[in-house]
Amino acid sequence: MSINVDQIKNDIMAATSVADVEELRVSLLGKKGQLTLAMKELSGLDPEARKEAGKQLNEQKQEVAVAIDSKKAELELIEMNAQLEKDKIDLTLPVNQGKKSGTLHPITRAMMELSAIFANMGFEMAEGPDVEDDWHNFTALNIPEWHPARDMRDSFFIEGAETILRTETSAVQVRKMEKDGAPVRIFCPGRVYRVDLDATHAPIFHQCEGLVIGDSVTMAHLIGTLQSFLKSFFEVEQAPIRMRQHHFPFTEPSIEIDVDLGNGKWMEVLGAGMVNPKVLENCGVDSSKYQGFAFGMGIDRLAMLKYGIKDLRKMSDGDVRWLRHYGYAPVEMPSKTEGLS
Ligand code: PHE
Repeated sequence: MSINVDQIKNDIMAATSVADVEELRVSLLGKKGQLTLAMKELSGLDPEARKEAGKQLNEQKQEVAVAIDSKKAELELIEMNAQLEKDKIDLTLPVNQGKKSGTLHPITRAMMELSAIFANMGFEMAEGPDVEDDWHNFTALNIPEWHPARDMRDSFFIEGAETILRTETSAVQVRKMEKDGAPVRIFCPGRVYRVDLDATHAPIFHQCEGLVIGDSVTMAHLIGTLQSFLKSFFEVEQAPIRMRQHHFPFTEPSIEIDVDLGNGKWMEVLGAGMVNPKVLENCGVDSSKYQGFAFGMGIDRLAMLKYGIKDLRKMSDGDVRWLRHYGYAPVEMPSKTEGLS
């Protein structure tokens, strides 16, 4: 079989799409391609002739392969440019809300809402790492070594007892005070981890810590702040709260707060108290000059109460139907002035 390389090259040059080139490649160099078959036919020749013809055929194959590759590269570039031209998006167009395909998870939404509220009250957002050390998660927070919160059953330890997944966002207040000293007015939303699982407890959940330190911050400020927050978050005129005496190693005195959202039922929503002077000292803040309050709330629980979600476990099932039902359109940003939800 004689091979007309010039003709073949002309055919390649005439191709107008990557798909055409690919078709040509198969018909020339593929398993049953013209050049592949010609190669097989060589076995019928006598050794001398085979050597000569084989050499020539190999050169021709090489030439054809180069022509195919370069034509393919050229056409690929043209096709990519055409695609880019076609895919141009106009960022100035208004968002098409009717076409929304994804939704924001209610926890994300709740975080956005509480961020809007605290920012409006003059709080700065602070964040810390999910993987913490013993000092920030326990020791600095006045959680001594014998404290049950350190027990293997409650905390996820990584590589021994020094590194853990943070069990509460309170670790962030330590980092903030160590870094910037007093005064402080922060809120810290984030993920926390505990060894727990049932209908109302998940091993990963979300908290929002608050910390206010100043020279004359009192318990009355704490109560006023939380009452105001709860009214804003639940979008109600009145949010009566009930305080129960409690114990946290990092606050003294400590309270737990329940709220009645108008149905006569008290729901526990957060823990709080005046920052224990030992914690201030641990973080390098002079406790004879400064005092303040801290609070911590479960975001998952707040979201369940506000949006009427019954089972906590559904939050992390990844069920698209659930997400469509409870999710929020990503374009509607919550704001204190424009309305939260
Ligand atoms: N960290 C506490 C908890 O996880 C909540 C809390 C924070 C209580 C700050 C008091 C002060 O339960």
